Amino acid sequence: MHILVTGGAGFIGSNQARYFLDRGFDVSVLDDFSTGTLGNLNNIKDKIKIFRGSIGDKEVVRQALKDVDVILHNAAFLGVVNVVENPWKVFQVNAHDNHTFFEQVLNSPAKKLIFASSSEVYGEPLEMSDKKRTGETDYIDYRVTAYGIAKKLAESACKVMYENYGIDTCSFRYFNAYGPYQLSSPYGFVAGIFLRNALENKPLTIFGDGHQTRAFTYVQDVCDANLLAINTKTKGDYFNIGTERETTMLELANLVKKISGKDIPIIYEAARSYDSRRRCGDSEKARHLLGWTPRVELEEGLTKTWEWMQNNSKA
Ligand code: UD1
Repeated sequence: MHILVTGGAGFIGSNQARYFLDRGFDVSVLDDFSTGTLGNLNNIKDKIKIFRGSIGDKEVVRQALKDVDVILHNAAFLGVVNVVENPWKVFQVNAHDNHTFFEQVLNSPAKKLIFASSSEVYGEPLEMSDKKRTGETDYIDYRVTAYGIAKKLAESACKVMYENYGIDTCSFRYFNAYGPYQLSSPYGFVAGIFLRNALENKPLTIFGDGHQTRAFTYVQDVCDANLLAINTKTKGDYFNIGTERETTMLELANLVKKISGKDIPIIYEAARSYDSRRRCGDSEKARHLLGWTPRVELEEGLTKTWEWMQNNSKA
């Protein structure tokens, strides 16, 4: 079976490329290398096909989609600071270019598409459930960013691809995936930033009181969910893909100190107005319909990521 991973040089994509290659799939990657790197594909770049280009570039997309059975679609403009500073670019890439990509998918042999959505679609809700079927008002009354809106739009397009064109799709609302190959630049994500800072003996900066929460989900569990969805009829539906363990940033910082064995200081800076206070959903739907259960506990996943980082400190 031939899989195309868009954003395949990025964090989730490069993990998926490895995971599916290991399981005997033919793997192609489409990436514009804006945030992803060739380094993320080290060890496998000779075993996969790499297409360099944007999801908005019809020609390269057409090439990449030839003979493809399944698409894991991650390519997007992302990073909290990036998207807050450039909301218009969010719409350009994650809505406009994304639409161009989907149009090409309709003309391709692909029969399945798994879209990397995000817990950002919930905005700042009281509850994060993907079980509600009526009204779908579980998030729209709350603050949602351009990023969340574009993700929601693409989820709807996935539904249309299934209902109107018969391509089996689903949208995975990832909750703070973390693990090896995660971007740890200042635009990057907190687990990667904290581990990187520990490696470099720098303090861990917490924005706000440290009691904001996230449901950190190890990338191997994310890949397992993708494999299960490939083997299940998903009918355009969306799923929360996240652990149900809600972790504060203070707990995360202390875990990183423990795992790294480094007595680095934790320092506090003002809360960022655009950060969400809570992110933890239920994953009941994925459990029931896909048979998915996250298997890697936070401490274990952080330890694996720490070990990887130590061995790849220039990555
Ligand atoms: C981002 C993504 C989201 C994705 C998630 C997990 C966007 C807009 N959002 O959200 O789609 O699912 O990552 O990958 O791209 N923090 C610190 N110190 C730091 C850095 C961050 O205290 O050095 C805090 C932040 O204030 C925030 C929390 O950590 O409260 C998480 O931040 P971050 O990892 O940047 O991303 P998310 O807001 O979870």
